[in-house]
Amino acid sequence: MNALARSSSIAAAVRATTQVIPSGATANPVLAERLIAAPAQPKLSSQILRNAIAPKTAPIASVGLGVTSQVRCAHTDLQVPDFSDYRRSATTDPRARAEDSRASRQSFSYILAGAGSVGAAYGAKSVVTHFVSSLSASADVLALAKIEINLNDIPEGKNITFKWRNKPLFVRHRTADEIQTEKSVNLATLRDPEHDDVRVKQDRWLVLVGVCTHLGCVPIANSGEFGGYYCPCHGSHYDASGRIRKGPAPLNLEVPEYTFTSDELLVVG
Ligand code: FES
Repeated sequence: MNALARSSSIAAAVRATTQVIPSGATANPVLAERLIAAPAQPKLSSQILRNAIAPKTAPIASVGLGVTSQVRCAHTDLQVPDFSDYRRSATTDPRARAEDSRASRQSFSYILAGAGSVGAAYGAKSVVTHFVSSLSASADVLALAKIEINLNDIPEGKNITFKWRNKPLFVRHRTADEIQTEKSVNLATLRDPEHDDVRVKQDRWLVLVGVCTHLGCVPIANSGEFGGYYCPCHGSHYDASGRIRKGPAPLNLEVPEYTFTSDELLVVG
């Protein structure tokens, strides 16, 4: 073997010990054993390398077109995972055309995307519903939103105070004289003109929110110069229709929403 051929064999052998190819070639155990068995030398001489890998009969490693020059020498025991169980049957045949199975693969993709969209929409709707419902009034608050009052418990000429939505609620059973007096009031004399007819649904019953319109005190019933209500905080006088007649309060007492469900039952709220 001439010098050029020998150097080519050495170069191929050295490259074979350091390169790995993904497929095709297999390890040459004879070559690997000879390389490992070679004694360690501070400097690899051409003679030792030739004795180790290149017997005189024929070259082990060579280079050239059509000749495998790379050898797998490391980690040949690695197992490539088999995903065949997870592949669609239409794609397992390497000779099959992709167009032949496209319809079935697209159907699967559409079904998967549709199911995902439905799930996402349901989840979004659930989140929004819970969020919005958390903003509404709780059950105990709703229970206090309305109050039922038995009118038989309120004698004529008396005012009963109830608690409604954390406010005092006045229900007054007016006498015939009070009704007559309030209906005959000249509206021109009122600070907040309102006829008695628009403040009551039944003449006998006056329903008011018992909060002074000045600064929010609770007026005293059957007191004051007009026989209705008197606020002791700053001296506001209301009549038996809840209208402001004297003092600093600017407006009449508020009339809440209410209905008579029967002759005896009043529902406020
Ligand atoms: Fe009633 Fe001022 S709060 S008069």
